[in-house]
Amino acid sequence: MLGRAVLRRSATVFGTAWRYAQGSGRNASAIAMTAAVAGESFPVLRAAQRVPFASASVLARGYSTSLNIHRNTPENNPKVGFEFTEANMEKVKEILSHYPSNYKQSGVIPLLDLAQQQHGGWLSISAMNKVADILGVPYIRVYEVATFYSMFNRQKVGKYHIHVCGTTPCMVRGSRSIELAILEHLGVKRNEVTPDGMFSVGEMECMGCCVNAPMIAVADYSNGVEGYSYNYYEDLTPESAVKILEMLKRGEKPKVGTQNPKRVNAEPEGGRTTLTTTPSGPYCRDLDAATV
Ligand code: FES
Repeated sequence: MLGRAVLRRSATVFGTAWRYAQGSGRNASAIAMTAAVAGESFPVLRAAQRVPFASASVLARGYSTSLNIHRNTPENNPKVGFEFTEANMEKVKEILSHYPSNYKQSGVIPLLDLAQQQHGGWLSISAMNKVADILGVPYIRVYEVATFYSMFNRQKVGKYHIHVCGTTPCMVRGSRSIELAILEHLGVKRNEVTPDGMFSVGEMECMGCCVNAPMIAVADYSNGVEGYSYNYYEDLTPESAVKILEMLKRGEKPKVGTQNPKRVNAEPEGGRTTLTTTPSGPYCRDLDAATV
């Protein structure tokens, strides 16, 4: 009961500050207040989360907070400025030209992507604030986008940023032991970067590959931030996950997709068991005859 009460109160205080910040446009003090309240409430919230009660399973994902909490650090705080380069400002103008002037906030994703590319693969708080300034929206409107999409990194990542899928199908198929093997092999904690800057490990929710669970996605920045790619490695075991890391470290390209030699893509082991013949028809329409 105590846990619930503390949690509810902290959430209310934080919610009030949050709404205040949203309603006050680009009022820096409102944002600072939100951040301060969040900072103060966080330990209380975490403590409340640790109190066992019936719905504790709902809160058991407390470890995910690094995905949505900002904490000022010497290299990432609102006093560390961010400006788009002259060349990128031209791109900003080009991007915004695609939207009506009263809907330019719709350009938030491409602008964040551009900012992330310019900023070495991650978005500082100042970079997000800059995007908000350009779009003329409260900072919170940009934060809520950047925290929702996990391809936006809000802290430094390695050349290879490993996303371990933590959603139910991958979890029941062993994603926790895969994550543990990866973290132990790299000698880091979640969201840390290895000292050589090569790897970092984060978490991702379902990446639509459950049939080949458990899986990881690797954001590959080895060709620079602009040439990044995302690759899925599926049907993993702790051993095969570590093998993939070792290959990446050596500059090799591990086979993408299933790591189970008995499977082709997402087919069952041993080959297809259904839809093995040509469909007999009738078909919904003759695609070759379609003129439009
Ligand atoms: S649960 Fe991991 S890909 Fe869907």
